[in-house]
Amino acid sequence: MIAGLPSLTAEFVCLFRAREARVDPAMRILDDDRAVDLLSPAMAALARAPQGVVDRLFNWMIPGLATTLVCRHRFLDDHLLQELAKRGSDEVEQVIVLGAGLDARALRFTAELRGRTVFEVDFPSTLGRKRKQLEKLGPVPHLEQVGCDFAVESFADALLRSPRFQKGAKTVVLWEGVTMYLERAAVRRTLEDLRSVVGAGSSVGIDFWFLIDGRSVSSTVRRMLPQLLGIVGEPVLLSLHPEDAPGFLRSTGWDVVDAADPRSLSTRYVKDGRRPAPSFHFVWAESR
Ligand SMILES: C[S@@+](CC[C@H](N)C(=O)[O-])C[C@H]1O[C@@H](n2cnc3c(N)ncnc32)[C@H](O)[C@@H]1O
Repeated sequence: MIAGLPSLTAEFVCLFRAREARVDPAMRILDDDRAVDLLSPAMAALARAPQGVVDRLFNWMIPGLATTLVCRHRFLDDHLLQELAKRGSDEVEQVIVLGAGLDARALRFTAELRGRTVFEVDFPSTLGRKRKQLEKLGPVPHLEQVGCDFAVESFADALLRSPRFQKGAKTVVLWEGVTMYLERAAVRRTLEDLRSVVGAGSSVGIDFWFLIDGRSVSSTVRRMLPQLLGIVGEPVLLSLHPEDAPGFLRSTGWDVVDAADPRSLSTRYVKDGRRPAPSFHFVWAESR
């Protein structure tokens, strides 16, 4: 993140979602028809470009990344919707999106949310840039934006300042595309902070990046690529292997109830032979 500027990676992941909305519905992994509304004009134009050259170029630069990013969103969508459908004592009372970027779920799932507040936490610069796009779309009364740098300050304190936030309530937390940009201690602190403000039976969906330990050229290149994100001020810092995730989460008060590695993503979501990148995995965990 370049100080004071909106996140570029947030724009790019949103661009991939917007492009996925143009894929043949029978082959589509994710339906995010609002992503394009949140993009800057230049990115929105790229999102509307015909399929072909743009997609091949992205896939040549980082093979499988676009597929992984839409699978990741789909994995979290499916779990979120399953939670929002619960009724009675299991009912979810609020949603937190940590590092929300240009996440469009507050717009896409208005009916399923049924007025429950969505708290979007991100750098003030990223939220400010998103607010400009949202203002063009009209009011979103169930959305509350909370500006915070959770690598240096407690997002929990920021949330607790909001009169709408219900401490100890059953909450769904989405933390997508962020852990890899933080140091392990910050990820641990965030999970512990989360556990201290949400109720038992709450859930969190997270993705992790991990190091490919093969000797092949492609494995070596994959180990180098994340550092290139340092050029836009968002270098990858944390690597957490799928085998290590349950223990790490358990030590912060969260039990993994579903995990998806790159291979299982293909089985779950891909119908047209696209191959997800091998270095990401996703978990859904519940608080004890
Ligand atoms: C790759 S983007 C993902 C955005 C969104 N979750 C999505 O999937 O579309 C990473 C987001 O994390 C935010 N972020 C990264 N580090 C952060 C920090 N220390 N505090 C607050 N936000 C942070 C960035 O501003 C950016 O919006």
